[in-house]
Amino acid sequence: MSGVDIVILAAGKGTRMRSRLPKVLHPLAGKALISHVLETASALPDARLTVVAGHGMDLVKGELERFQQRQPSKGPSSKRPGSINCIEQKQQLGTGHAVQQAVPVLADDSVALVLYGDVPLIEQATLERMLSSARQDQLTLLTVVLTDPSGYGRIVRDSADRVVGIVEQKDANVEQLAIAEINTGIMAMPSAHLKAWLPQLSNDNAQGEYYLTDIVALAAQQNVVIEALHPESIEEVEGVNNRSQLARLERYYQVCQAETLMDAGVALADPARFDCRGSITAGSDVFIDINCVFAGEVTLGNSVTIGPNCSITDASIGDGATIKANTVIEGPVTIEAGVEVGPFARLREGSVLRKNAKVGNFVETKKTEFGEGSKASHLSYLGDSTLGKGVNIGAGTITCNYDGVNKHRTEIGDKVFIGSNSSLVAPVNISEGSTVGAGSTITRDVPPNSLSVARGKQKTIENWPRPEKVEGKNKALEKTSTKKSEP
Ligand code: UD1
Ligand code: CA
Repeated sequence: MSGVDIVILAAGKGTRMRSRLPKVLHPLAGKALISHVLETASALPDARLTVVAGHGMDLVKGELERFQQRQPSKGPSSKRPGSINCIEQKQQLGTGHAVQQAVPVLADDSVALVLYGDVPLIEQATLERMLSSARQDQLTLLTVVLTDPSGYGRIVRDSADRVVGIVEQKDANVEQLAIAEINTGIMAMPSAHLKAWLPQLSNDNAQGEYYLTDIVALAAQQNVVIEALHPESIEEVEGVNNRSQLARLERYYQVCQAETLMDAGVALADPARFDCRGSITAGSDVFIDINCVFAGEVTLGNSVTIGPNCSITDASIGDGATIKANTVIEGPVTIEAGVEVGPFARLREGSVLRKNAKVGNFVETKKTEFGEGSKASHLSYLGDSTLGKGVNIGAGTITCNYDGVNKHRTEIGDKVFIGSNSSLVAPVNISEGSTVGAGSTITRDVPPNSLSVARGKQKTIENWPRPEKVEGKNKALEKTSTKKSEP
């Protein structure tokens, strides 16, 4: 048998989510549920992916396109998945009917694997076990034994313990309801069998639906071997039907990621208060304090320290850098070795901090490069600017980069000293070694090694008497005003 045809069911509305968004598009760890499934499925060798969509099909299609764009193209030799089929199931007449919609795209000599768009954490290893079982010309089911099996289809076995059918909760008799082994829904079999069985399904059952599960009895009648495999963990096969289940799976997923990072040598202050909605690559002896949220691609060098409550998206942080509490990084941002950021700093896209630079509290940067050892320790906005090496930006410095229509750049040379509370009106060039006096509004270029002061001159009046409250006078005033207000 050649190739795997993977059919992902995603036509349901997900009524219990109480959302306008189709269920399979709700995010888990920052990524749509269905994209988790697509990622796992497309990692299987020789896999062709087909999604059966219905409710919110256009939105689902959009996510499929975004997923395909995100896949890295590693040159012509790469095993990049071919384009994903998206097939419409106009009316949701049951899981059997849903799979039937995909029949036209199934190869005759492939193995078919049925997955669910709302069961996001299925593992590749489990699917590989199922595929090698199905390749033996078998029908392979993924089942689990639950203490409370209610709601699920039950696995019916004969006296020799062979699987002979699946009975849905609503169609089950008392004896069948006592069966603890349930159908997860995930199954694999030669496509040729699936194609032969699907047209034989009927909707003559309690729900009036075409049940995919009825193919199991057909297989048993034809003496096709039916094998039931189990997943490593129950969370692998858990579906999302409401927001509470989604939150539970999210926590499970985050704890798994935290464990993986700790296994790789990262110290987490509390793995229960760690969130990664992307990927983290970390060196050795990294420390991450509580309540940090990572997104996109984050790279942490050796001995990086991240303080509590930081939000870090798309950033590369070099060896020995320290990110202090409550820092927000909205990358792409590059932070080199030995840099210190925060507390309460905000680094926006295009911020580059070269070695040993320092950005302190309440400093915002955007499209700004700090040269080696340059500092802005407090209360500044630095946008569209380039700072040379060893620059010192005083507290309250603002680059006025926007004239209401266009953005302009501020260029600051090596070893420049900007006094506190200065406004640098761009476009402006402040050359190396120069000093700007505190409180200046700089509108013209500053030459090298000069001092520029652009502020109102101080005037001093000697022996000036400050106005004082005179008790008697004030009381007199109050009396007149009360009198006036009397009728
Ligand atoms: C199904 C199984 C049941 C199993 C359970 C596991 C059948 C008949 N029953 O029941 O044995 O224990 O899953 O959760 O298969 N869908 C479509 N189109 C449809 C119907 C469903 O795309 O016409 C999709 C849904 O969006 C959902 C999935 O298929 O993602 C399962 O459908 P659902 O109606 O939830 O099946 P269950 O009744 O839970
Ligand atoms: Ca279900």
